[in-house]
Amino acid sequence: MIEIVGVRHAFGDIVALDGVSVTLAERRIAVVGANGSGKSTFARLLNGLVVPDAGSVRVDGLDSRSDGRAVRRRVGFVFQDPDNQIVMPTVAEDIAFGLKPLKLGREALAARVDTILVRFGLERYRDHSSYLLSAGEKQLLAISSVLVIEPAHIVFDEPTTLLDLRNKRRIAEVIHGLPQTAIVVSHDLDLLRDFDRVLVFDHGRIVADDEPASALAFYVRLMS
Ligand SMILES: Nc1ncnc2c1ncn2[C@@H]1O[C@H](COP(=O)(O)OP(=O)(O)OP(=O)(O)O)[C@@H](O)[C@H]1O
Ligand SMILES: [Mg+2]
Repeated sequence: MIEIVGVRHAFGDIVALDGVSVTLAERRIAVVGANGSGKSTFARLLNGLVVPDAGSVRVDGLDSRSDGRAVRRRVGFVFQDPDNQIVMPTVAEDIAFGLKPLKLGREALAARVDTILVRFGLERYRDHSSYLLSAGEKQLLAISSVLVIEPAHIVFDEPTTLLDLRNKRRIAEVIHGLPQTAIVVSHDLDLLRDFDRVLVFDHGRIVADDEPASALAFYVRLMS
């Protein structure tokens, strides 16, 4: 469970989040809103990448201000831009990188990497340069690198923007089947229709919080 109480966060004179209080306990939670409405800042707040100027964020009882490292371990984060996330020269090394703290043996590590490569259709890129993948392949790699760690909660910041129709469906299925809590920021409304809950952001505030049909209808009206 993630509890956000009275959060405000500004970048200089730009207020990105203002008076945000919400408790996230459902398995599938979507975040929608206009460009610049604070969605990515909210997403970063959830795993301690952003520490709020005021208010608090608690993940399963851990405070993101005082227990930042533990919070980052519990909450996986898939970045909007996969280039921000790819850190190792080859695809397999990049996936293995996040597993380091688990101190698995060599065979267990390789097995875990291979399983996720197959799951995402990336096995033929195993020893390829991660930086030379196509944009969509990089997005799949970024998602794989987080899922392989099996964090308790996963935040996806626009996970399907670069993907073709088949890979969009693949990611939709993956998110659907995750045992973890998933919080998904997206402009792809089709992805969100079967979610448990949708939060609509506007100017740094949550202006609707409802089941998908009502919240998405509200969002469409807000944008018209
Ligand atoms: N690191 C930063 N430094 C300065 N301003 C920032 C920073 N990050 C975000 N902002 C500003 O905060 C506001 C909210 O940005 P945020 O990235 O959270 O929006 P968003 O809803 O994710 O938008 P998009 O749909 O375009 O991804 C914007 O006005 C943005 O310019
Ligand atoms: Mg964003």
